[in-house]
Amino acid sequence: MLVNVVGLGYIGLPTALMMADSGIQVVGTDKDAERVKMLQNSQLVFEEEGISELFFNAAEKGIIFSTDYVAADIYILAVPTPFNKRSKKVVADYLVNAVEAVVKVCGDNSVIVIESTISPGTIDKFVRPIVDCINRQKGYQIELAHAPERIIPGRMIEELRNNNRTIGADSVEVAERIKSIYAGFCHGQIVLTDIKTAEMSKVVENAYRDVNIAYANELVKICKEACIDVYEIIKIANMHPRVNILKPGPGVGGHCISVDPWFLVGDYPGLSNIILAARKINDSMPEYVLDRISVIMEENGITELGRVGIYGLTYKENVDDVRESPTLQLLNCMRKHLAWGIKVYDPYVKNIIVKNQYMDFESFLSEIDLLVVMVGHKHLVNNESMLKDKLVFDTKNVLTELDTYKL
Ligand SMILES: NC(=O)c1ccc[n+]([C@@H]2O[C@H](COP(=O)([O-])OP(=O)(O)OC[C@H]3O[C@@H](n4cnc5c(N)ncnc54)[C@H](O)[C@@H]3O)[C@@H](O)[C@H]2O)c1
Repeated sequence: MLVNVVGLGYIGLPTALMMADSGIQVVGTDKDAERVKMLQNSQLVFEEEGISELFFNAAEKGIIFSTDYVAADIYILAVPTPFNKRSKKVVADYLVNAVEAVVKVCGDNSVIVIESTISPGTIDKFVRPIVDCINRQKGYQIELAHAPERIIPGRMIEELRNNNRTIGADSVEVAERIKSIYAGFCHGQIVLTDIKTAEMSKVVENAYRDVNIAYANELVKICKEACIDVYEIIKIANMHPRVNILKPGPGVGGHCISVDPWFLVGDYPGLSNIILAARKINDSMPEYVLDRISVIMEENGITELGRVGIYGLTYKENVDDVRESPTLQLLNCMRKHLAWGIKVYDPYVKNIIVKNQYMDFESFLSEIDLLVVMVGHKHLVNNESMLKDKLVFDTKNVLTELDTYKL
């Protein structure tokens, strides 16, 4: 059996490697020729715990990387699915392009599995018409399935092995066929359902996370107004047997939680009220952090933004993914207010992607008086002692030895 994994990003690449490692013949395809060249030259395209070993094993088992789509039994599509900033609906263009490319090469009885996160009904609206057309033209029975991915950067390999999964298909036979591939490396439970239910379940999971984070973030603002320590409140509340309030933070980023809930808002306006409110609360946090920075600067007589440093550019700790990150949202907000000069450092981001970004932690620290922790990388926690002579605003509440400002 041959599997063609299309889209070798944060989701497609580890999935392709995992499948190859489990003994399946895999061709990984990406339209980004630079990315494919790197992979062909045994260079990884992002950092992730455990991925080097998996990459090596998959290479030993003969995984192929290519810019070409190949005739295969199964296609796994893991291409981006952003949302339209105005309508809030899913943008299916990448998916449609990938499906159109795949149907040019795939044969009878192959299955196209969409791993990308999509709003409920996306496959019926955008994918099925393309596949039905080819089936009619060629007399084929190309099948469709949806196997949404739940893994989180930083724990991708472990979660690929151990998470429960959902597979949606039009028939039990197709679902079982796809299940047998994932069962080769996934030790979690694999639930079989129909396509639309699988689409909805994934979006609902991410909206659930967003709503719960928004609750913690709303408490930050209420407790600040009431002059009460929000962390103490959360600690006490969580001692209740049926309460589990999440950690507040400077915002929500990444390619999932800050994106997917919008699909429901876009498709069900008027019905998705809590989901919309949660999106707005979480999106308001970078600006809230900015307000707190200005108060702390004023309290301490800091008059230049150039004496303030932001620690962390990624959307979560110990990964290099910066997409939609709270720091990028905060810098964008500053740009709108024509506020320039704040300094930035992130040990995981190896290229210069923003103004005044430092590559060396010590020189960064030597230039600032106030450090704003936006990401709780292990690197910072391990180097807390280097911050002794700094004012620190710890939006992640990760530093334990220093007396810091909190959200
Ligand atoms: N990143 C996550 O943590 C995460 C978690 C769960 C689900 N998802 C979902 O998985 C999907 C992929 O996300 P990602 O983070 O891997 O994206 P990504 O941007 O890291 O990777 C996507 C890859 O697809 C390639 N691509 C785009 N169009 C293509 C085409 N027509 N043919 C071949 N390659 C093509 C791009 O070049 C890129 O390398 C999205 O729907 C996302 O919502 C992501």
